[in-house]
Amino acid sequence: MSHNQPATVRLVARLGDLTVKRIGYGAMQLAGPGVFGPPKDPEAALAVLRAAVAGGVNHIDTSDFYGPHVTNRLIRQALHPYPDDLVIVTKVGARRGSDGSWLPAYSREDLTQAVHDNLRNLGLDVLDVVNFRCMFDVHHPVEGSLEEPLSVLADLRRQGLIRHIGLSNVTATQIAEGRRIAPIVCVQNQYNLAHRGDDALIDALARDGIAYVPFFPLGGFSPLQSSTLSDVADRLDATPLQVALAWLLQRAPNILLIPGTSSIPHLTENLAVAQLTLPAEVVAELDTVGALAA
Ligand SMILES: NC(=O)c1ccc[n+]([C@@H]2O[C@H](COP(=O)([O-])OP(=O)(O)OC[C@H]3O[C@@H](n4cnc5c(N)ncnc54)[C@H](OP(=O)(O)O)[C@@H]3O)[C@@H](O)[C@H]2O)c1
Repeated sequence: MSHNQPATVRLVARLGDLTVKRIGYGAMQLAGPGVFGPPKDPEAALAVLRAAVAGGVNHIDTSDFYGPHVTNRLIRQALHPYPDDLVIVTKVGARRGSDGSWLPAYSREDLTQAVHDNLRNLGLDVLDVVNFRCMFDVHHPVEGSLEEPLSVLADLRRQGLIRHIGLSNVTATQIAEGRRIAPIVCVQNQYNLAHRGDDALIDALARDGIAYVPFFPLGGFSPLQSSTLSDVADRLDATPLQVALAWLLQRAPNILLIPGTSSIPHLTENLAVAQLTLPAEVVAELDTVGALAA
């Protein structure tokens, strides 16, 4: 497979007609515990966002349902007016219950409101990329037609409120359906070294020039742990999570990273992955982590 080649890793990639650095930043966990309510230390959250952009990040992943509203308002407070090259990718299709639960929000009214909430809270006139977040099951892709909600997003795109549409938590069948309704520039599904259900999908999307943006690239709320990862990291004088990110960068050229962190030291480690190249035999060794987890 292509990811066994230790060739030079390109550090930029396409997102529709936009070009972004492949190491971006995921803002979800800047909200309070459970991605609900404000963070304990808002100043620290603002500092992380500013450090990300100062460190070269030009791709930030967010949603107005993080908090809700909290993460987008932090991004605006930290970074507005935005640098010209900053691409903010958001998502719609869900809303939060008063208990913090994650609920579908697929109706025309819900989606139109969500796009306007994102525009207002981010302080933008146009959203660069809006992912439709499929919620048939909150944790996993489940088949079912997305025609109705995607037709609404396609209308909002024609109105000029959205530049590009992406999909999240979806199957290959749903991506094919989506591409008949509107151009799809990216897919955001759960994927990492130990969770590799989308291997074939990633390669197919790469062939079609569609970005793949793994969520939980470090394992999410329980970061990845594996003795193989730790052994490799020791040998390369890196941290285990740096190795996990480097493996993703080498896995396929259409993968964009959005690791989340609320810590500037962790952010610095994650950005330094641009300098970490894994030899082919290390990639092969790491592939066994996915096989063991499968
Ligand atoms: N489309 C979807 O359904 C969906 C779902 C989930 C997430 N997302 C997006 O994906 C992004 C990434 O997901 P995520 O943030 O939940 O999970 P993640 O990036 O896999 O992992 C984040 C966790 O790793 C820790 N971490 C980060 N860098 C580290 C480092 N260098 N060393 C040690 N620990 C480190 C963080 O803790 P510290 O804060 O202590 O660093 C945090 O606990 C989110 O921010 C969000 O934008 C999308």
